[in-house]
Amino acid sequence: MMTNYEILAASVRALTDGENDLIANLSNVSAAIFESLEDVNWAGFYALRRDTLRGDTLVLHPFQGKPACIRIPVGKGVCGTAVALDKAQLVPDVHDFPGHIACDSASNSEIVIPLHANGEIVGVLDIDSPTVGRFTEEDLNGLMLSAEAIELAWERSLNKN
Ligand code: SME
Repeated sequence: MMTNYEILAASVRALTDGENDLIANLSNVSAAIFESLEDVNWAGFYALRRDTLRGDTLVLHPFQGKPACIRIPVGKGVCGTAVALDKAQLVPDVHDFPGHIACDSASNSEIVIPLHANGEIVGVLDIDSPTVGRFTEEDLNGLMLSAEAIELAWERSLNKN
C-alpha cells in the first residue's frame, strides 16, 4: 500500500507537539516513518556539527534499522552531498552514486532530505530501501510535508519555545 504522506505528516506533528527534546522527537519520528513506508530498511537522522578546524560533519542521530556509520564528513556520501548542495538527493541505485557510504549492504536506493532550522541546515532525514528505484518524486514531495514538521520541531528544540 502507498504511504499516505498527509497522514504521516499529521502524525509527525502530533508526535512532536508540545515536546522540545530533539532526541525524543527524532526517535518517535524515525519510528513513525519506518513504520509508514513499505520496503525500507533504514530511516533516521544525521545532525550537522560545525567544526571550522576539522571540517563540518554529520553525526548519527535517532534511527530505525541496522547500526549505521556514526560520522559522515560534509561533501561525502549521499548525506554529505545533500548538505553540501543543500539539495534533496533521490538516488535510484546507490552503487551508481560516486562516494556512496554503505552502512547496510542491503541498501540499494536512498532518499536524503536536508533539514533547516533558524535559516540554517541542521541535519538530514535519510531513508534507505533494498529495492533499486524505490523512491520517486512523489515520495520526495510527500516526505517534504513531514520534513517541514520536523524542521519546526527541531527549531523549537534549539530555541526552547
Ligand atoms: N548511505 C549514506 C550513509 C548513511 S546510511 O545510509 C544510514 C550516505 O552515503 O551518505
